[in-house]
Amino acid sequence: MSAVEIESLVVRYGSVTAVDGVSLRAEAGEVLALLGPNGAGKTSTVETLEGFRCPDAGSVRVLGLDPVGDRRALLPRIGVMLQSCRLYSVIRPVEAVRLFAAHHPHPVDDPDALLDRVGLRDRSRTVWRRLSGGEQQRLALALALVGRPEVVVLDEPTAGLDVHGRDLVRSIIRELRDDGVCVLLTTHELDEAERLADRVAVLHRGRLVALGSLDELAAADRGPQSVRFSGPSDLDVAALSTVLGGPVRAEGPGSFVAEVVSSASTVASLAGWFAEQGLPLGEVRAGRQRLEDVYRRLVEEAP
Ligand SMILES: Nc1ncnc2c1ncn2[C@@H]1O[C@H](COP(=O)(O)OP(=O)(O)O)[C@@H](O)[C@H]1O
Ligand SMILES: [Mg+2]
Repeated sequence: MSAVEIESLVVRYGSVTAVDGVSLRAEAGEVLALLGPNGAGKTSTVETLEGFRCPDAGSVRVLGLDPVGDRRALLPRIGVMLQSCRLYSVIRPVEAVRLFAAHHPHPVDDPDALLDRVGLRDRSRTVWRRLSGGEQQRLALALALVGRPEVVVLDEPTAGLDVHGRDLVRSIIRELRDDGVCVLLTTHELDEAERLADRVAVLHRGRLVALGSLDELAAADRGPQSVRFSGPSDLDVAALSTVLGGPVRAEGPGSFVAEVVSSASTVASLAGWFAEQGLPLGEVRAGRQRLEDVYRRLVEEAP
C-alpha cells in the first residue's frame, strides 16, 4: 500500500473538468511535487486527499483510507496546509498550536517548540490578523504538523514567502521526509520542485503529462540539448559557435546558452577555449537538462 493512491481521479465544477483522469501514488519518506501552471488542477487534486472534495469519478486513498468515508480515522494522521488558511482573527500563534494539539491524539510533545521551528518564536503572542502573510503561512505549516502526521499535504507552501521563510519551510519539508513522512506538495515554481522533490508529477489542464524523478523526466525529454554558462558580456559568440559546433546565444547579461550536445567533451572544449582566450569562465551547467526546459516542452507539447 502506498501512502497516497490516486486512481483515475476526475473532479468537475459544473461544466469545467478540473482533474481529468489522474492516477498517481506517493510513498512514505518521499516528497512528491504536483507541478503545473495556474488552473492545472493541483488544488482540486489535493483537496480530494484532504476530504474537502468528493471525486466525481475514480478514487483516492490516503494511508489506505477514504478521505471522506473514513474521515475520523484519517484526520489525526494527515497534516494539511491549505492555499489560503484563515484563522480566528485575534487568536495568537501560541494559542492556535495548543488548541490544535489538544484535538490530536498524539500531538508533538511541545507545541510551543513547533513555533520556534517555523521561526515564529518572537511572534507567538501576536494576534493572527497582525501577523504578516508569510508569518500566517508559517503558522499554517506549524498547525499542519502539530499532530505528527504520517502524510502531509501542502498547497503552495512557499508561495509569497521571503528567502529566509522559503529556506526554513524547505528544510522542514526535508526533515519530514527523512522522518519517513509522505509529503505531497503543489507548486508552480520549477525551482521549488527542483530543490525539494524526489519525484515530480506534471499536471496540465487536469491531466498528468509526466511523472518521475528529475532524472527520469530529463531522460525522457526529446528536446534539444544545451550547455549554459556565464562569461564576459562582450563574448565573441560567433567564434565560440564555430569551436563548439553549434549556435551560442546570450540569454541575459553575461549568461549564454550553447545548443550543443551536453557532454563532457563539449564542456572541455568550452573551458579550453576560455583558457586559450584568457577569459574568466563563470558557472557552467551541462548534463541533465534544466527542469524548466523539460517542463516547458511538456506543457507546450501536451494535447
Ligand atoms: N470552486 C470552483 N468552482 C469552479 N471552478 C473551479 C473551482 N475551483 C477551481 N476551479 C477551476 O478548476 C480548474 C483547476 O483549478 P485548481 O485545481 O485550483 O488549479 P491549480 O491549483 O492548479 O491552480 C481551473 O480552471 C479553475 O478555474
Ligand atoms: Mg492551486
